[in-house]
Amino acid sequence: MATNRTFTMLKPDAVEKGHIGAILEKISASGFRIVAMKLTQMTTADAEEFYAIHSERPFFPELVTYMTRGPIVAAILEKENAVDDFRALIGATNPADAAEGTIRKMFADSISENAVHGSDSDDNAAIEGAFHFSGRDQF
Ligand code: TYD
Repeated sequence: MATNRTFTMLKPDAVEKGHIGAILEKISASGFRIVAMKLTQMTTADAEEFYAIHSERPFFPELVTYMTRGPIVAAILEKENAVDDFRALIGATNPADAAEGTIRKMFADSISENAVHGSDSDDNAAIEGAFHFSGRDQF
């Protein structure tokens, strides 16, 4: 099952700018089924744990402040080849490098506020989905 699922967050900048509907529309139109979803806000401890792999990077404090400053939409998405196809749909980490038509190209302004998260492996999709949702929240 994990191989067909990925995890996403519509980040605080996307929510603040009113892009939830447009981004979800694009996700659905691209063939992803939403199997879990909620509006939530990460605590500092949540963000530090979620992004622990980046804890030594210079941008880490800024990343934690950004990810905790307002609500996010967390969701689990299902589709064949979900992880790779969703990474292709969101585009490069830096929206300046993202391909035309990708979510980051359309909705993000900078590498540090890049609108959307997508898991980078099946293992991380399972870990990140479980971070936000229990089994009975998933349909
Ligand atoms: P990363 O896991 O490298 O990118 P992705 O989200 O595409 O998997 O980085 C996680 C987040 O950290 C990224 O979405 C935005 C932030 N970040 C910066 O603010 N500056 C940077 O130089 C990098 C590499 C990431």
